[in-house]
Amino acid sequence: MNPPKSTNPPNSMNPAQKHEPRPKSMSAGQARARACANIAMAKYWGKSDADLNLPAVPSLSVTLEPLSTETSVVFDPSADADVFSLDGQTAPPAERARVVAVLDRVRHQAGIGLRARVESVNHFPTGAGLASSASGFAALSAAATAAAGLSLSAAALSALARSASASAARSVFGGFVKLPAGRPGQGDLAAQPLLPASHWDLSVVVAITARGRKAIGSRTAMNLSRDTSRYYPAWVEGAEASCKRVAEALAARDFRALAAAVEESSLAMHALAMTSSPPVLYWQPGSVAALHAVRRLRDAGVPVCATMDAGPHVKCICERDARDRVRRALSETPGVHETLVAVPGPGVRVTLGAP
Ligand code: PMV
Repeated sequence: MNPPKSTNPPNSMNPAQKHEPRPKSMSAGQARARACANIAMAKYWGKSDADLNLPAVPSLSVTLEPLSTETSVVFDPSADADVFSLDGQTAPPAERARVVAVLDRVRHQAGIGLRARVESVNHFPTGAGLASSASGFAALSAAATAAAGLSLSAAALSALARSASASAARSVFGGFVKLPAGRPGQGDLAAQPLLPASHWDLSVVVAITARGRKAIGSRTAMNLSRDTSRYYPAWVEGAEASCKRVAEALAARDFRALAAAVEESSLAMHALAMTSSPPVLYWQPGSVAALHAVRRLRDAGVPVCATMDAGPHVKCICERDARDRVRRALSETPGVHETLVAVPGPGVRVTLGAP
């Protein structure tokens, strides 16, 4: 499916709500949005307020084109329940419940009671196991608010997405984005755009090291880390400085400093997961092989570093000129099934109208 025509310029800071007149063929009550995934260079792991879904630590990410989710929302006067399909299949109850929670907030703000049909499609290569709640909830938040006729600021949209998935707050914006730590009760916490996508010509080569769904989701795993890892207090204490190191390296386009800060944050997060009880180990043999391949490349002078999220895939951030070499080396690494390439991309974009 082609991306929808956007009503906003690429990298728009105010995604949904600067409207062109509604085209005649399009009606009120429905909208579609497209949002890109993001990869955290300084990781979020742990909540300061589970009810409001507030992160205990700041995080900093880059929004990734073309890894995206496209979501349409139709508020339907004839429907008596919310329906959610993902990639053409009715979603499992737990995933539907998270979508309904966002719809409920939107209905509350808009003062409407209509049920909705939500259709979401991930534009990630099939079977790659990369499907991301970040792009999904950013697209859902933008489409649902537009369909309900709400005019939210980008910050309010980001706060809404954050209530479902903290990483989704960052996908509302393009380029390099920060989500500060939240104080308990801070319901309006939103991400902030730091630098535009054009700031640095980086690429991300994703090494796919396993098929299928991950064993344990980020939400369960990070709560486990908070409750059981003895290193959790040290993680929270060091996170602000870690995020600052990433931000400074980015601002200065200092790849060596960026690599050190990115890998420190990722490895610390995984150390936390591994020292939870029971331990959470996302790494597969191919993940370890890819991490070593990245080190060998860097030792040979290639500007590349690696980061991993709540899954086995290894995301290798490199300067644009190094991309082909990085991709070749990873493709030849045992346990790497496939590689994908992404670049810094735009924030969420909304198309008013029928899906
Ligand atoms: O917001 P969630 O539940 O998708 O958690 C994201 C957690 C990590 O991807 C591991 C780190 C991050 O900051 O994106």
